[in-house]
This record gives sequence, structure tokens and C-alpha cells, in this order.
Amino acid sequence: MANATPVSHFQRGCEALEGKKLFILGAGSGMGAAIAKMAVAKGAKVALSGRSEEKLKRTASELGDAVLGIYPLDAVDSQAVDAALADKAPYDHIVTTAADLTFKPFVELSDDDIEKMLGSKFFAPLNIARGANQYLNANGSVLFFSGLAAYRQGEGSSIVGALNMALESLAANLAIEMKPKRFNVISPGVVDAGSWDFLSDADRQALFDSVAASLPVGRVGHVDDLAHAAIGLMENGFITGTVVNVDGGGRIA
Ligand SMILES: NC(=O)c1ccc[n+]([C@@H]2O[C@H](COP(=O)([O-])OP(=O)(O)OC[C@H]3O[C@@H](n4cnc5c(N)ncnc54)[C@H](OP(=O)(O)O)[C@@H]3O)[C@@H](O)[C@H]2O)c1
Repeated sequence: MANATPVSHFQRGCEALEGKKLFILGAGSGMGAAIAKMAVAKGAKVALSGRSEEKLKRTASELGDAVLGIYPLDAVDSQAVDAALADKAPYDHIVTTAADLTFKPFVELSDDDIEKMLGSKFFAPLNIARGANQYLNANGSVLFFSGLAAYRQGEGSSIVGALNMALESLAANLAIEMKPKRFNVISPGVVDAGSWDFLSDADRQALFDSVAASLPVGRVGHVDDLAHAAIGLMENGFITGTVVNVDGGGRIA
């Protein structure tokens, strides 16, 4: 008797990124740029967004004709986000890594510090989610980035922690309300990426050495660790409404 044709994961509702269209907010640096590069290596096309056109062009320069477009914008501007998404819609996946954070004690934060944090890590994801209602394919996904500060409290992380936690709740709710579109969150631990650019080289290295020594994996994260997880969440059609901690064991250390 002939064997039945094996059914692959991808036939069961998981879809490889080959030929898919991604919109990545935060693509000018760090994890957003790494996701763009890894997705293109897997055959996807990418639209790149963030505030700095120069940074987006730098990412685009490595990706050739896989770039659908570059969209410099401040993602607190809902109309700008809407117009950017509309341009080459529909998308298969939309990602936001946008973050403009200040790590200071709560009482020392200025209005401007707080506005930038809420803008990049709350209003930007909200605008992305609203755009996803119209410009994301029904079997597509949205990916937010939260962070370990949601779970590990420390001086200077009050608002960052609160916003991270808010995103995780938002994604789970939207996974129900906007089904079958999928909403997930990656919570990074300490990763060698743009979030730490405000530190001097010596301070950044000291932080990374100290964090690495405290983690079960013995190192801080690389942007490709995060890009790999992001691509897994996009490709796996059975994952929604959840948080994947890509933190080297930071929550349990
Ligand atoms: N690196 C870590 O250790 C770590 C740890 C925990 C969580 N995370 C989270 O992981 C994500 C990625 O981190 P990363 O280190 O890769 O950050 P990153 O390199 O600083 O990238 C963030 C990007 O967001 C863009 N951006 C900021 N505000 C924006 C706005 N209002 N509108 C549009 N774009 C905006 C920035 O570009 P422009 O300035 O050009 O706009 C930047 O390219 C962030 O959400 C961060 O909070 C990181």
C-alpha cells in the first residue's frame, strides 16, 4: 500500500516567510534591523520604518530589492502610520521594536522623557494595531516587543516596566478581539543593541559583563537571538496571544 503523503507543518497552518511581506517599525537599528535582514534571507520582502531616514537607508542598503519601501515617521502620529501601512498593503506580518526610553528614577523623569516612552512603546504599538485591522492579511500576525523590566523591578525602570506589561496584556486581548489575526510579544532580556546606546562604551561593557555573569546562559543576547525568535512567531500559525521570553534566563536568574 502506498504511504500517505506526509503533511508538513507548513500545510497545517504554519507558513514560511518566503514570499511574505513584512512591515517593520524600528528597522533602523538593533533588533528591528536584524529581523529585517533575517527575514530577507528567508525570502521575505520588507518595508522599513522608524524616525531617522538615514538609519533606515543604512538598513536598506544591505537588503537590495527586497525592500518594499522606507517610511521615516514618528509612530505616535497615527495618520503617518496609517499612510505608511496603506502604501504597500496588505502585509503578512507587522513588527514594532520602537523604543525611546529613559532609565531614571521616577521622580526625575521629565514630561518629555515620559511622552517619548509612552509614544514609542504604547501609542506606536496602538497605531500599528489599528493599522493591522485594515492592512494585515487575515492569517497574518503582529509582533510587539516588551522587555524583562516588566518582571524584574529596579530603580529607573518604573515606566518601562509598566509599558512592557501593558503591551503583553494588549496583545493577548487583541488576539481575541481581532482573531484570526495573531498578536504576540517578545520580551527580551539584556541584548547588545541600540537600547544601551545612551551608555558610554565602558559602562555598557561593564553592564553586559555583569549581566552575563548572572545569567544561566552566561552571556547577554545578540540581536540575531531575537530575530530568530521573531521569525519563529511569525511563521508558526498556532501561536497567538502569548509572550516569548528571549532573555537568557533573566526572569529566573
Ligand atoms: N536591547 C535590550 O537590552 C532590550 C531589553 C529589553 C527590551 N528591549 C526592547 O526591545 C526592543 C528593541 O530594542 P533595541 O535595543 O533593538 O532598540 P533600538 O536599537 O534602540 O531600536 C529601536 C528603534 O525604534 C525607533 N524608534 C524609537 N522611537 C520611535 C518612534 N517614536 N517612532 C518610530 N520609531 C521609533 C528607533 O529609530 P529612530 O530613533 O530613528 O526612530 C530605533 O531604530 C525595544 O522595544 C526595547 O524596549 C530591548
